[in-house]
Amino acid sequence: MVPFLPPAMTICDSDEAQMDANHQSRHNKAVNLSIDRYIERVSKRTIEGETKSFFIADLTQVTRQHMRWMRNLPTVRPYYAVKCNSDLALLRWLASLGTGFDCASTQELSLVLDLNVDPANIIFANPVKAPAALLFAREVGAARMTFDNLDELDKIASSFPEAQLLLRIYASDDGALVSLGEKFGAQLDTTEQLIARAWELRLNVVGVSFHVGTGAKSSGSFRKAIQDAGVVFNRAEAIGFQPSILDIGGGFQDSNFEYMASAIREFIAAHFPPNVTIIAEPGRYFARSAYTLVSQVIGRRHQMGSVADEGLPDMLYQNDGVYGNFMNVVMEKERMVPQLYSTSRKPEGQGEECKGKYRYSIWGPTCDSIDCVAREATFDSEVQVGDRLVYHDMGAYTITTATRFNGFSGSSDIVYVNSEALSGQN
Ligand SMILES: Cc1ncc(COP(=O)(O)O)c(C=O)c1O
Repeated sequence: MVPFLPPAMTICDSDEAQMDANHQSRHNKAVNLSIDRYIERVSKRTIEGETKSFFIADLTQVTRQHMRWMRNLPTVRPYYAVKCNSDLALLRWLASLGTGFDCASTQELSLVLDLNVDPANIIFANPVKAPAALLFAREVGAARMTFDNLDELDKIASSFPEAQLLLRIYASDDGALVSLGEKFGAQLDTTEQLIARAWELRLNVVGVSFHVGTGAKSSGSFRKAIQDAGVVFNRAEAIGFQPSILDIGGGFQDSNFEYMASAIREFIAAHFPPNVTIIAEPGRYFARSAYTLVSQVIGRRHQMGSVADEGLPDMLYQNDGVYGNFMNVVMEKERMVPQLYSTSRKPEGQGEECKGKYRYSIWGPTCDSIDCVAREATFDSEVQVGDRLVYHDMGAYTITTATRFNGFSGSSDIVYVNSEALSGQN
């Protein structure tokens, strides 16, 4: 349950840098305080409480990302991609900020509809849907959806003929963390046939969508996709449709958002008239920085003999791994950089001479040897069994990709903090 909802916030451009620094400091303080309190609480609890990792979620961070979005892409309405992190508190928070939602399954549709979100604020953005899912979408009135192949059109014609269709076209960013183009997206030279078939079936094509890949790096991929979408708009109009929606998908990241947004604004202005409705499906951009994960070290192997002679670091085993909240290590080749948790009672590090002196590889709790979270992590002090490790930016594709492999629970507690409540305590 979320104990609070987003406050109204306004930021003036000139104050932005200072406010960012202030916010970061409040965010860190609030997160550290909550870790202290949670650990104090669970240390009095059962074994179960102690053997799970936990998240600290600062949802005011999501509000900040939303304001940043509105500043940089004011004419693009975000439809948050539920698959990225379906924590109900986050979904509720986003709904109250006014975002729409991108759902990929009946379960995701139900989650969002249960929050009283109007189906008109949902896009069913899975180009290949089971017939039962189409019937469900019709029943609940989630009419806006994507397609990219002929068979999908036949299914839609028989299960949900009044649906509002967006043709998902192929797009790909070579540097993306995860590419989606191999699985989804109609090639440009097939779009005419798909649109003609939709017309023949008396379906309603209302727009075009694409996704350049999650964690995109180059604005060129958006340029090409937006240009292609313009071509498909023209084709749809030539056949008789009146497309009015361009969906520029996801792929947005914290690190290059302003750069991408400025390029996207320019490409959209060059290829689309202002009366076209522009939407997007960001996931990572909203969720990643709001969640911090805290794991616990459950074992340690001090290297001995020949292995020690080879210089291999000692090994730490923690209560969460790639089958849990760390699948990004495998999927996105993400390099994890944990910090050793320390309270004010336990000083971190032992002076300059100890900087990075303690080296460890970090492993998850399962019996699989691919369950390696970090090949090498360095700390300023020795890490022992029972210590906690803190991982920042853990809100995207973590909670939703965790499994129950080897009997581990696959779920973690989430503690919500409001860093804005620390205003004036910088
Ligand atoms: C159809 C669709 N939309 C949106 C997203 C969210 O992408 P991102 O987290 O990169 O913003 C994804 C991610 O896989 C997706 O498949």
